[in-house]
Amino acid sequence: MSIELKTARELMRIVIVGHVDHGKSTLVGRLFHDTGSLPEGKYEAIKGMCERRGMPFEWAFLMDAFQSERDQGITIDTAQIWFKTALRDYTIIDAPGHREFIKNMITGASSAEAALMLIDAGQGIQQQSRLHAFLLNLLGVKQIAVLVNKMDLVDFSEARFADISREYSSYLGSLGISPNYIVPIAARDGDNIVERSPRTAWYKGPTLIEALDSFRPAAPLSALPLRLPVQDVYKFDDRRILAGRIASGRLNVGDTLLFSPSNKTAKVSSIEAWSAPMQESAEAGQSVGITLDEQLFIERGEMASHVEAAPTESHVFKAKLFWLSKSPLNLGGAYRLRLQTRDVAVTVESITCVYDPESFTARPSDTVIRNDIAEVTLRSPALLSLDAADIYPKTGRFVLSDGRNILAGGTISLEGYPDERRLVTVRSSNITEVAHGITAGQRAQRNGHPGGVLWLTGLSGAGKSTIAMALEQELFRRGFQVFVLDGDNVRRGLSANLGFAPEDRAENIRRIGEVAALFAESGQIVITAFISPYRSDRDRARQALAKSQALAKSLSSVAAGGGFHEIYVKADLVTCEGRDPKGLYQKARAGKIAEFTGISAPYEPPVQPELVIDTEKLDIAAGVALAVNYVEGHFRRPR
Ligand code: ADX
Repeated sequence: MSIELKTARELMRIVIVGHVDHGKSTLVGRLFHDTGSLPEGKYEAIKGMCERRGMPFEWAFLMDAFQSERDQGITIDTAQIWFKTALRDYTIIDAPGHREFIKNMITGASSAEAALMLIDAGQGIQQQSRLHAFLLNLLGVKQIAVLVNKMDLVDFSEARFADISREYSSYLGSLGISPNYIVPIAARDGDNIVERSPRTAWYKGPTLIEALDSFRPAAPLSALPLRLPVQDVYKFDDRRILAGRIASGRLNVGDTLLFSPSNKTAKVSSIEAWSAPMQESAEAGQSVGITLDEQLFIERGEMASHVEAAPTESHVFKAKLFWLSKSPLNLGGAYRLRLQTRDVAVTVESITCVYDPESFTARPSDTVIRNDIAEVTLRSPALLSLDAADIYPKTGRFVLSDGRNILAGGTISLEGYPDERRLVTVRSSNITEVAHGITAGQRAQRNGHPGGVLWLTGLSGAGKSTIAMALEQELFRRGFQVFVLDGDNVRRGLSANLGFAPEDRAENIRRIGEVAALFAESGQIVITAFISPYRSDRDRARQALAKSQALAKSLSSVAAGGGFHEIYVKADLVTCEGRDPKGLYQKARAGKIAEFTGISAPYEPPVQPELVIDTEKLDIAAGVALAVNYVEGHFRRPR
């Protein structure tokens, strides 16, 4: 196999799975031999060795020989082995055990584009055959050829083949998999591997090699949108060179790059490869150093992309992970998240389910033990730049660590959470703050209390609007300057152009957060009554007020503001659905309202709200009294 052959020809990665003694090594040996892929003299050498030792030749010995060469580092490439057909080259991903395979697939150490699943014609479908199908499905391998092996042991019986095909197809069907082919083979003798077998004249489908050659290779990484994780920043004189390895896509001099999560942009002035002349372009797999037309402050961990196909920015995401550590993953656990060159803190916010390899079902759990595959939600205090694993095989993956050891590998899903990029992107420029002539202190003096925000959050039907309006009346009666911003009201004007998709809700809350901060700055107490289902959005509203109050303080040097108070109006889904004041839950259950909070869209309860009003236990009057007391305690200043 020459180097030229490897680079010029298409390469497909396949995995061979099957019960331990269903004939994997024999098949591999035979595949190499029959496709003429063995190095000169290899077959003869092993045959000769068998004769000298007086043992019968086995195809599996070829694999053993490869293995020991790899162990000793004799073969040129120790990680991969190839065989070739007229069409292309194939690499067999080594999957000594299924745990190893899952680990490799999930961590992206190697990802298979197609799978061969071996079943022993004599033994039929075993537990492991089911497990492998379950796993391939879970890992997203879609192109599958089932090989019913050792057909010689069942006298090439068409009936036996038909039975196994029927049974296995029906099992695969129950998982939503339809195998592309089911091929009867006898790996030991080479039947239907490369040559069509006269012993299965009844079989009209393709040989194994024909089946493989019909599979479509995954799109090359260079065809995907650009992702260049910044690995290092070098300073030479006044030049800054950003170095990294292109994970996907192509990069050209003159391209405008967007850096995430900082949201900065600049044009590429030059691409410099190490010890090579300057280039006009570079692509996935290449390590490059780039210079920009502007001196941006960019650090290791930023992700460069083109503006029009940027990664999603979020504090939170859903993930499928494979847990490797001896100590279990627990709900609420804190870890380090490694995303390409970035390393940030995350906590496990929820564990949706753990896949059970015994029963092949997903079950709820609060803990994930070694070798479990689980679906979890991870949250970071930092804004993350994320790609979905089903589209971005490289940047859609992550690793969890404890700072030193790798604890898990996982894949990213972008389902259910908004892209926060729009919320954090600042487009306005040439802005100068103008100082007010009246200070926050003067306003507070006149009103008898500082401005601030009472942020009510909870499910629809929890009682937010009712409490907000009653609280407004009572505070007004007591002489407070107070005003309610209510979801259903604000959505008729300020947010009339927004729906209930995650991005729209996030933008709705961003606007309310900013408006509430302005109201508070004007000296009022603002009560907001919005579901505000995402924690990041509520945190952003809190920051909006902190920013405006810090500004007011810096301009007037008088302590300003009564701050932001998150109030959880608490009632669980069952209670809210039982109340259903607007009949919306009923509509949502009937499928007439999409993405309804609690039913088909998430609600993230506050972690440390300043106040909880539990409307399952308190009636409205008691809830309002609690809030009034709270406000009196926090806002009323002795005159
Ligand atoms: S938020 O999620 O963006 O904070 P907001 O509080 O403004 O929601 O609006 C919620 C109100 O909109 C609900 O009280 C309900 O009357 C109405 N509504 C309509 N569609 C939905 C939906 N899909 N999910 C939740 N509320 C909805």
